[in-house]
Amino acid sequence: MSKKIAVLTSGGDAPGMNACVRAVVRSGIKSGCDMFVVYDGYKGLVEGKIEQVDRNFVSDIINRGGTILRSARLPAFKEDAIQEMAIKQLHDFGIDSLIVIGGDGTYRGARELAHKGINTVGVPGTIDNDIASTEYTIGFDTCCNTICECVDKLRDTTTSHQRCTFIEVMGNKCGDLALYSGIAEGAEMIITPDDPISDENVFAKLKSLKGGKKKHSLVIVSEKVYPNIFEFVKKVTEQTGIETRAEILGHLQRGGSPTSKDRIEATRFGIEAVKAILDGESSICLGLKNGKIVRYKIDDALQMQRKANHELLDAIKLVNR
Ligand code: F6P
Repeated sequence: MSKKIAVLTSGGDAPGMNACVRAVVRSGIKSGCDMFVVYDGYKGLVEGKIEQVDRNFVSDIINRGGTILRSARLPAFKEDAIQEMAIKQLHDFGIDSLIVIGGDGTYRGARELAHKGINTVGVPGTIDNDIASTEYTIGFDTCCNTICECVDKLRDTTTSHQRCTFIEVMGNKCGDLALYSGIAEGAEMIITPDDPISDENVFAKLKSLKGGKKKHSLVIVSEKVYPNIFEFVKKVTEQTGIETRAEILGHLQRGGSPTSKDRIEATRFGIEAVKAILDGESSICLGLKNGKIVRYKIDDALQMQRKANHELLDAIKLVNR
């Protein structure tokens, strides 16, 4: 009997999720499986929004941002009764295996379903790059590029007006988006949860830049570092005498056509997810380690602590002021 595998996307959407869905569906069909998609993440699973698909279903999506399967957050999926509803839907469709694309929260859902008899594989998909069990998450590269496009534009006006602009980027509690885009932009300062800096030191550093030739500065800040970035830049202006503005890039960072890197990594992950199911794995997630795809038990992956890239954080201080 052929395997029946479903795929869903969950949590914050990320560019490249579609490329991964495409790889899952196509490699599954080519391996002789019946392939299903679930709309609206775990919420749709509970509601039975499930459909069997053929290879044409995923045509022309490799270049599309967002997720054609849509996404949702369902905190109630922690509850046993809600999980049982999802299991019933899967049984009704005869589905034995589920591939989920998302972050840690998505993995937790997959682990619970595995305890209830469904073979599950998690694939890392989030712009934040905040999953400890992988060095790369689908969507991160596209998001960094989107941030750079926006900061390039902000640079123009910041320069013209000789101002300082604080740009707040996403990342949840992870500083990678700020760090990598800050490096790519040569930002005067990069402020992340991984490398905290006191308000006094921020003011002192900006004041020290004031006397130099360059009359403008760009500061990239991770979200959640300052409770209200607009209030904080008022303080910066008061304390430094430098006219300072703030921009929150917000959800536009999650959109856009995926870069070739995201399309390629997403495709590799999708193929490997199906392979893992066919190898009889369950309750595992995939990660990238030294560029190679590896498998971890979800329980082990969720115990791992994300390590900030201190080498890079320190090295960049030699170049950026
Ligand atoms: O996890 C992705 C992410 O975009 C985070 O960077 C951000 O903190 C969060 O999701 C925003 O979530 P929502 O779309 O629910 O506002």
